[in-house]
Amino acid sequence: MAQFAELFTLLSLFSVLVSKGSSSPPPAKEQWDYVEVRPGAHIFWWLYYADSYQDLPLILWLQGGPGGSGSGFGNFEEIGPLNRDLEPRKTSWVQAASVLFVDNPVGTGFSYAERPDGFATNVSTVASDMLVLLQKFFAQIPELQSNPFYIFSESYGGKMAAAISLELNKAIAQGSVKCNFAGVALGDSWISPLDSVMTWGPYLYATSLLDDSGLKDLTSAAEDVKEAVQQQQFLKATELWSVAETVVEQNTNGVNFYNILTQQPDEKTASFAGGNFISLQAHRHIRPLHKQSLSELMNGPIRKKLGIIPQNVTWGGQAEEVFSNMAGDFMRPVVDIVDQLLAAGVNVTVYNGQLDLIVDTLGQELWVKKLKWEGLPSFTQMRWTPLDDPASPGVTGAFYKTYKNFAFYWILKAGHMIPSDQGPMALQMLKMITQQD
Ligand SMILES: *[C@@H]1O[C@H](CO)[C@@H](O)[C@H](O)[C@H]1NC(C)=O
Ligand SMILES: *[C@@H]1O[C@H](CO)[C@@H](O)[C@H](O)[C@H]1NC(C)=O
Ligand SMILES: *[C@@H]1O[C@H](CO)[C@@H](O)[C@H](O)[C@H]1NC(C)=O
Repeated sequence: MAQFAELFTLLSLFSVLVSKGSSSPPPAKEQWDYVEVRPGAHIFWWLYYADSYQDLPLILWLQGGPGGSGSGFGNFEEIGPLNRDLEPRKTSWVQAASVLFVDNPVGTGFSYAERPDGFATNVSTVASDMLVLLQKFFAQIPELQSNPFYIFSESYGGKMAAAISLELNKAIAQGSVKCNFAGVALGDSWISPLDSVMTWGPYLYATSLLDDSGLKDLTSAAEDVKEAVQQQQFLKATELWSVAETVVEQNTNGVNFYNILTQQPDEKTASFAGGNFISLQAHRHIRPLHKQSLSELMNGPIRKKLGIIPQNVTWGGQAEEVFSNMAGDFMRPVVDIVDQLLAAGVNVTVYNGQLDLIVDTLGQELWVKKLKWEGLPSFTQMRWTPLDDPASPGVTGAFYKTYKNFAFYWILKAGHMIPSDQGPMALQMLKMITQQD
């Protein structure tokens, strides 16, 4: 059973406390539910309708990790109607689209596996699980079947988005899912992990974050990752990726993987040295998406409001298991899937933050140039177009280039979490991709 709700019993309490006297905006219409995608494997979704949703697209947002929660991090830290303090966000994607957050893979956020074999171990399972969810979702909410439907993603979410888009495109052709799929957008996406790792050295060196010795050490660590990937030893590659990150930390005095202009906020990871690399990587890449304040919100007022979360399910409680189950698939590239999408005529956008290290723009440029897509030579020859930052007219906020069904946005002054770093620019891009501007 789906639940309709007015968040504003809760919000009105807060707005009295927080923004004394200022009038609240009208409540967004929302809906949420679980879908059992395989026996014992449950995925949670949460939909916010845009005000005039009949005329606006529907966007599925996929968080990274794997194990990062869209309903938590994406919703309250990036693009949802309210921020972590439950105040209206100034720039929310719900201003331009209905937004569907899905906690995937199984075990992420409020999603859960009843048994250890319920977790996905590869993107094929992630995609087939999502197809079950989308089929149920569009059957349950037929009023959104004809809205242009886009998949937007961040980080590992991009790898999942590519695989899901390909399966969705087939399912629509076969008539098993009813929706108006209009394109996929891959944000700071883990499409070709090796290209990311191989470019960390040059990027950090060019931005005064590595000296010659550091560059030498990192180059050597990256070569080890490359060898494992080339031998298709993907679990070993994941372990060596973790080693390369330690080399980055040691030589940069703890640069933040998500924004090179900042340092890692949390305690140093040195205490994990020699320990289990999966716990170390979960600490580096899953924990930042589960900050204590966000966990308290999700496991406190939000779970109470939702009313359907089983007693023994904790938001984020299975995140590390999600990651460890995917560890053998993590370093596997999906460039071929992007090629299949382009060949099938699906609109594909790549967007990347200038200050992101973990998925640096240099690495994205490399895998894009490996595409077999017939439009690539023309795309490569084209010049980009600058875009003003809507928050600072006259200041360049991005560059973009589009040819046939492929587009690339270079987002300036943004790290890995583009909507958090450059909200108005990200919203502008969203409008351009969904043809509202
Ligand atoms: C929660 O409890 C139910 C019933 O006892 C059990 O079947 C299920 O596996 C538990 N779920 C989790 C996530 O532990
Ligand atoms: C993905 O995992 C499932 C379940 O373990 C397995 O049956 C399937 O063969 C795997 N697919 C690929 C492409 O590895
Ligand atoms: C795909 O992109 C092209 C070029 O920008 C555009 O003309 C077309 O309408 C888009 N298709 C969809 C389904 O949005």
